[in-house]
Amino acid sequence: MKITVAGTGYVGLVNGVCLAEMGHQVVCIDTDETKINTLQKGVSPIYEPGLEGLLKKNRKTGILRFTMNPQEAYSNSDLIFIAVGTPENKDGSANLDSVFSVSYSIATHLEKDVIICTRSTVPVGTNAKIEEIILRLKPPPVHVDVVSLPEFLREGSAIFDFFNGDRVIIGASSSEAAEVLEELFLPLSMPIVKTDRNSAEMIKYASNAFLATKISFINEIAALCEKVNADIDEVANGIRMDGRIGAHFLRAGIGYGGSCFPKDTKALLKLAGNVEHPFNLLKSVIEVNNKQHSLPVTKAKMAAGSLAGKKVALLGLAYKPDTDDIRESASIRIIQELLDEGAKVVAYDPAAIPNAKRYFGDTIDYTLDITEALTDAETAIIATDWDQIRHLHPSVFAAYMKEPIIIDGRNCFPLDKMSVEPITYISIGRPALI
Ligand code: UGA
Repeated sequence: MKITVAGTGYVGLVNGVCLAEMGHQVVCIDTDETKINTLQKGVSPIYEPGLEGLLKKNRKTGILRFTMNPQEAYSNSDLIFIAVGTPENKDGSANLDSVFSVSYSIATHLEKDVIICTRSTVPVGTNAKIEEIILRLKPPPVHVDVVSLPEFLREGSAIFDFFNGDRVIIGASSSEAAEVLEELFLPLSMPIVKTDRNSAEMIKYASNAFLATKISFINEIAALCEKVNADIDEVANGIRMDGRIGAHFLRAGIGYGGSCFPKDTKALLKLAGNVEHPFNLLKSVIEVNNKQHSLPVTKAKMAAGSLAGKKVALLGLAYKPDTDDIRESASIRIIQELLDEGAKVVAYDPAAIPNAKRYFGDTIDYTLDITEALTDAETAIIATDWDQIRHLHPSVFAAYMKEPIIIDGRNCFPLDKMSVEPITYISIGRPALI
């Protein structure tokens, strides 16, 4: 098939590259000239394991192309994927400006029948609005279907998830359009769910909100564990063996971040408010997560007293491992709070330093060497569970730090291994080792 992907952000680019890998003729369009130039050279503007290899390979054969020209992108496609950003408005709602401006551009360049699929996360009712715009502006003989096709890719394993996801959700208003998309995804051997458009849009928000709820729930249990001297890792293990609860998303820590959960939970709350549904559970999920981001500095101050003038090693900047993304990462709040306390921050991260530099400039120091970050630091805060951090030998802290206090926000180390070290080790929902 001839497929156009509008938007070369993380969702659009992964979709474009993977659809080309499946053998489709793909053209990706973006209004960002620098991005398109970079992609035309076969270089990925984002850090995503496996992405650049597939990008280079499929660009070389010509099956995957990049353009800024809407005529070239939209006039001759069988399928158009909308994968532009839906950032957060000040009031928490999803900003749909890019979605609608792409819809105008598509409508005015169509020359043949097409199915338009929305990959962007959009509030319920948005696909109907996209359809309205397109039907109003398209050339009369052209037939258009607008389908909600939410994505469930995780940053850091997006390529794997594209080919091995748990399900494909197709929210179409015509059975013909649903069948075309069913055929497109058939080779991936995933369960395919065909539903109506509003339900498909809701499935995406409900999925992310539910996962966020699991995280805030386990973090609340972790806080309770600290008060009653229980161990959250033991508790989570016992819980996850119940198939009804599920094994995943029960890792306690300093809360969720990234470009999805924080934005999508707020957008869903806003959507509920718009229809006068007081979604108090979701409101609490968001509040608990905000509180979690402040835990490391609160714990560090309790253990160390004042942090003023002291060197603090911040291990991890990305909101999770295997990404360079720091959007809504707990590390942002941690750095802000450490600077407010007058601490001298040295941050380690194997991938996210360039993004953090754009945010914090030279207000903190950066290093690609963990031991350099730890040298002479009095406190170390672990904010991301990168393998490079989890696989550190516990003795490294005592070897490099001054009277080491470790605040482990991701429970990277087993308590029995840390208990034999001459350190103060404070984690989340587990007994403190002082
Ligand atoms: C999330 C969803 O998992 C994807 O299914 C969805 O497609 C994507 O959002 C999206 O809407 O585009 P992602 O944000 O890449 O994917 O990352 P996750 O792996 O879900 O992790 C999100 C955050 O939750 C991270 O900060 C992680 O550290 C935290 N987390 C996760 C926990 O604190 N505990 C856990 O047990 C699991």
